[in-house]
Amino acid sequence: MTPSPTIEARIDDLLAQMTLDEKIGQMWQISGKIDGAEETIRRGGVGSFLNVEGDVAHELQRIAVEESRLGIPLIYGRDVIHGFRTIFPIPLGQAASFNPDIAREGARVAAREAAAAGLHWTFTPMVDIARDPRWGRIAEGGGEDPYLTGRIGAAMVEGFQGDDLSHPERIAACVKHFVGYGATEGGRDYNTTYIPETLLRDIYLPPFKACIDAGVATLMSAFNDLNGVPASGNARTLREILRDEWGFDGMVVSDWNSVLEMIPHGFAADAKDAAALGVLAGVDMEMVGDGYVKHIAALLDEGLLSLEMIDDAVRNILRLKMRLGLFERPYNDLDPSAMLLAPDHLSAAQRAAEESCVLLKNEGTLPLSPTISKVAVVGPLADAPQDQLGCWVFDGHAEDSHTPLAALRAALGAERVIYAPGLPHARSYDEGSPAGGIAAAIDATNQADVVIAFVGEDALLSGEAHCRAFLDIPGAQQRLLDALKATGKPVIAVVMAGRSLALGPVLSAVNALLFAWHPGTMGGPAIADLLLGKASPSGRLPVTFPRAVGQVPLYYNQKPGARPAPADAPIVPTGTPLDPSGFVTCYLDVDHRPQFPFGFGLTYSSFEYSNLRLSTQELAMGESITAIVTLTNTGERTATEVVQLYVRDLVGSLTRPVRELKGFQRVELAAGEQTEVRFTLHTDDLAFHNAALQLVTEPGDFHLWIAPDAGSGLRAEFTVVKK
Ligand code: BGC
Repeated sequence: MTPSPTIEARIDDLLAQMTLDEKIGQMWQISGKIDGAEETIRRGGVGSFLNVEGDVAHELQRIAVEESRLGIPLIYGRDVIHGFRTIFPIPLGQAASFNPDIAREGARVAAREAAAAGLHWTFTPMVDIARDPRWGRIAEGGGEDPYLTGRIGAAMVEGFQGDDLSHPERIAACVKHFVGYGATEGGRDYNTTYIPETLLRDIYLPPFKACIDAGVATLMSAFNDLNGVPASGNARTLREILRDEWGFDGMVVSDWNSVLEMIPHGFAADAKDAAALGVLAGVDMEMVGDGYVKHIAALLDEGLLSLEMIDDAVRNILRLKMRLGLFERPYNDLDPSAMLLAPDHLSAAQRAAEESCVLLKNEGTLPLSPTISKVAVVGPLADAPQDQLGCWVFDGHAEDSHTPLAALRAALGAERVIYAPGLPHARSYDEGSPAGGIAAAIDATNQADVVIAFVGEDALLSGEAHCRAFLDIPGAQQRLLDALKATGKPVIAVVMAGRSLALGPVLSAVNALLFAWHPGTMGGPAIADLLLGKASPSGRLPVTFPRAVGQVPLYYNQKPGARPAPADAPIVPTGTPLDPSGFVTCYLDVDHRPQFPFGFGLTYSSFEYSNLRLSTQELAMGESITAIVTLTNTGERTATEVVQLYVRDLVGSLTRPVRELKGFQRVELAAGEQTEVRFTLHTDDLAFHNAALQLVTEPGDFHLWIAPDAGSGLRAEFTVVKK
């Protein structure tokens, strides 16, 4: 954001009037209305609350503005992660749309509703790159790719904040968790991370930088220790990279108690030590923990911290409050009834759910004919209003959810839908309930032309601290699918989940599979429209889908290694251990390739890529190259293809990934229609961090693909030459 001389002058003026205690108070964020909150506010002892809304928020703000000495308003934050009352698909699902407009609009809607509830600030977007689906928080981010995650994250920032943060319907965004949190060892939340700085800079930092370039107002420091240094005490990342290199002038908040958690990390001896480390690292506001309020004064007395550091932190906090216009408009004057679940909010959520669904298998079973006479709807997630909302939903209500069962009944007429859930919930092994259990689901299927099975993960299985060691569909759901298959009727699976799953056994049991993530409030109508062909699937996988959990981490932008397995042959080596054909990077018990590559997704049509051409074979440093492909809809229906651009730097001073995503476009074509799709790449887009941590584009040969996914496509070659 552009610095404003007026705001800076007002901050100086205010700082000059503040006592030390009032400054320290600004640096504390409290969760909920704790005992004695009023008195703490009155003496200027707190700057922010999270998880306070409505009338309570209004009253506490009144005390801050009218009864504290300087009248500095409080800022209210909350986790508005994928919608406030109108819930959008989980962020990973939004990333699957490969459509930043979807993320921007979802954030705009969430901001309107959250602002109407009196909130000023959300702790979103999460842009932690996740290469391990066991980690439950993979649901909250953009997946495994830094470019896609950065595009989606930046769009969310724009949606929440708009052009003017002080607009009553906008709220401040917070990019998190800085940094490396998604690399948690073993996919276990809060675990340690080791990331060499070259990898940090090429993979983990770019999405944060994209959000900062989009003007994000705040940033959250993470829980994890990164290369031995907890992220909330890490001056290298928070001061040198974020402030000095990137020039971030927003506010840094810790994660929940993460300053004091430097004690269990074994990095701080006690709360005082932790507070010193947090301030020294550049964490402006402490979330929940009381290390700052209890110890900063003593740390100043002892000369372990300087007043300039405290002033800098308070300056960042006041700047945020001024940018939000809180001094001019401390109270919420919006009418929530006009905002919550507004018709245009619901239609935006439905469109987002529609674009986030990924069609993974289709033997011609989908779309269903609208004249189909009877459909069996089974599975524990067909009518699970809370579960379809997904993780991190504090303000969405299950009773607002439009479930797939309700939507299919509405679309087809209740008499054409036979419902038998089969299992009471997604993790259940109780095959006999409710109402006849799996046997009843089989009966229903036998009476129908087709069965649609809504299976997957309930919402509880992803999100913070909700990690898994297995990537299957839990409980007896596989049994249910296998029993459905045995009926001989066509089986369609709609899988809801908060992560990528190992879908092999599911795929074997079904004729078609639509992966719907946790699709949110309007998931039902979106899915019904897709199943019935009123809409055409266009989502793509933002994460690689493994065949087995043992393949994890498995991601498309991996290094080639010395002995890559041949791309085109399924490799499970046979013969003696000395058979040289087996000496490649693979497993003995599972095909080394993913089940589905990053970027994969089918449509109800088919597309042909042809005639890939480049504007030049020799690209001079500092110039751009254009790649053009002819795209033809060779099928019988209008559909949207997500056309992807990848490159590979063949030889580097450090080894380079086998592919890197550099662009994507959603292209809608009618049956038989043809168009040219064009991408432009500058040599700066080919840069990476070398061993000296310089961002460089090295001359040499490159491959370029225009492709439907990371595992296929048309390839061309070009060479980058020095000028
Ligand atoms: C999470 C953050 C969240 C914060 C506030 C923490 O446990 O890690 O992502 O914003 O709580 O609720």
